[in-house]
Amino acid sequence: MKKHVETSLSHIAKFAPFAEQTGASHFPIYNTGTFDLKKQDGDKIYDYTRSDNPTREMLENLFTEVEGGAGCVCTHTGIASVALLFETVLKANSHILVEADCYGGTFRLLKIFKEKYNVTVHFADFLEFDKIEDILKNNPVDLVLCESPTNPGLKIIDLKKVGTLAKENNALFAVDNSLATFISQRPLNLGADFSLFSTTKYISGHGAVVAGAIVAKTPQLAKEIHYYANAGGRSQNPMDVYLITLGIPTLKVRMQEHEKNSIIIAQYLEEQDYIVKVTHPSLKSHPQHSLANEQMDYIPGLFCVDFKSVELAEKFIEDTKIFGEKCSFGSPDSRVEIPAKISHATFSKEELAAIGISDSTVRFSIGLENVEDLIKDIEQAIS
Ligand SMILES: Cc1ncc(COP(=O)(O)O)c(C=O)c1O
Repeated sequence: MKKHVETSLSHIAKFAPFAEQTGASHFPIYNTGTFDLKKQDGDKIYDYTRSDNPTREMLENLFTEVEGGAGCVCTHTGIASVALLFETVLKANSHILVEADCYGGTFRLLKIFKEKYNVTVHFADFLEFDKIEDILKNNPVDLVLCESPTNPGLKIIDLKKVGTLAKENNALFAVDNSLATFISQRPLNLGADFSLFSTTKYISGHGAVVAGAIVAKTPQLAKEIHYYANAGGRSQNPMDVYLITLGIPTLKVRMQEHEKNSIIIAQYLEEQDYIVKVTHPSLKSHPQHSLANEQMDYIPGLFCVDFKSVELAEKFIEDTKIFGEKCSFGSPDSRVEIPAKISHATFSKEELAAIGISDSTVRFSIGLENVEDLIKDIEQAIS
């Protein structure tokens, strides 16, 4: 029977390799480095936790099912899943096409691959299909990578269209699904070869762990990510896997609440005279508002606000009492940050300006607090 994602998430222990033996609601943490080969005679033999571990396998099986893939590797951070993607697909002198509006850590990693391995990085605006088609036709591009929604610009990319263009030009297509998560959007069903994400954010949901994962569409690609994860030691430790599993069953209800609270606050801010612009895919004013509703079941509670001045943006952050000044998102506590200073400090001012981000842009991650308390906090900070 084909199940909805939240049904699978609520029965996470069933995805464990030997779940049937006890029926436990939570699978044990196999906190071990090695396994005795003489003691095992099943189809699957474990030898060393870097290559395979039953606790990690439970989460990998779950992510494979909910993303609609053929295999997964859970990684020790979200950026490790991006690194693993590059290690698997790119070679020296490869070409990669990347949406210019991307996470600062991904941007930094691309610079490293460019400098060390002579990888040519083509940055483009993925709303301009003619331009990306032109790059794909005129360059030997191995990999196309984008986020949707993008962080920090909150652009919505038409994944089906980009996936088709990548296929027509023999490039693999990877989507960073950290913002939407698989409860909302499943890139592999829209033409992607890889869906990768930071589980640090909404998926673990409590800000208690840094982690990530990458799911591959085909058995061959799944074999390759597993091979490179073992070779490079990218895989996640079982204790962190356990922490993530604690948040997973509530992902859907948390996403609904993040979405609801963030829309109320975005609409409130849109009416304030100290604000120039609010960029939230749920607002009618967002240029890809209808695509956002088509492509995602839930809109994440992350959005950007351009204040009238840098001083006002900085004062606002300084004077809020409930909102922390923190990077990352998807936690129960609301937070604000200036991307140019924190999450996207690896970009130059000019590179940020090209994707519409300035020093007076504040990124909001709305948590699970009472929304009236959040609005009162905004009012007192600005008064
Ligand atoms: C879109 C996106 N991808 C990947 C990452 C990296 O994840 P992590 O911080 O878990 O390494 C982040 C972190 O903010 C992100 O925003």
